[in-house]
Amino acid sequence: MSFLIYMSNTFNKHTRVNSLTYFDDAEQASIYTAKQIAELIIEQQKQAKPAVLGLATGNTPKVVYQELIRLHQNEGLSFHNVISFNLDEYYPIGPEHIRSYTFFMREYLFKHIDIKPENIYIPHTVCSPDRIEDYCKYYEDRISSFGGLDLQLLGIGRNGHIGFNEPGSSFESTTRLVNLHSLTREDAHTDFGTIDKVPQQAISIGIHTITQAKKILLLALGEKKSEIISKALKGEISTQVPASILQTLSHVEYILDRDAAALIHE
Ligand code: PGA
Repeated sequence: MSFLIYMSNTFNKHTRVNSLTYFDDAEQASIYTAKQIAELIIEQQKQAKPAVLGLATGNTPKVVYQELIRLHQNEGLSFHNVISFNLDEYYPIGPEHIRSYTFFMREYLFKHIDIKPENIYIPHTVCSPDRIEDYCKYYEDRISSFGGLDLQLLGIGRNGHIGFNEPGSSFESTTRLVNLHSLTREDAHTDFGTIDKVPQQAISIGIHTITQAKKILLLALGEKKSEIISKALKGEISTQVPASILQTLSHVEYILDRDAAALIHE
């Protein structure tokens, strides 16, 4: 069962409305999310246009990608018009590293679908420190060259980060090198084996870059996310909770399972 709720927020004298959809379980929420993405791809195909997607990594989108693969394999969904930009990547990490997001995206999505390899963008983080600034500018320019992101898929960190825009990130930020927050590194430590192996830094697209997407889907699953979801959706808009900026936008849909939504009605 799903529920759709419209939430009003007042910000800078403008009243904006964004929406919240929640589901009994994580699988239904993920399938619904995949459907939104598929519909956008098909809509753009009908107009002979590319679909420019901002994609996320982590545990949250895994079933979304699984469903997109199913739609491709069983229902003829083609990704030939998709251009994808990933949110972030650890710095430094080689693309063949099993914990790199390049590896993740290949395993969980790209190798199973018909996206053109030349249409895949993931921050490349083996560049030397003196080249990072130019590289980040290149990444931003590539996004702009396609007219910006049509849809950005987001997860949320327990500290409220979106992408690797950690607490304290400016709402005006664009793609850049960031230092990872202690909670982010702690949450990644089982993937890497020990905390020492978790990179200290990453390249992440900025909060400004994210907010410019024409549509934003924020997916949060599980009880572990309930506290931060409540803060991000109902709390003060503050750089200390980066996802709180989304309250000010009209084109955001929060997609939650029952557990992640547990504290928002309190
Ligand atoms: P997760 O990470 O999907 O692995 O919980 C989300 C995030 O940090 O954005």
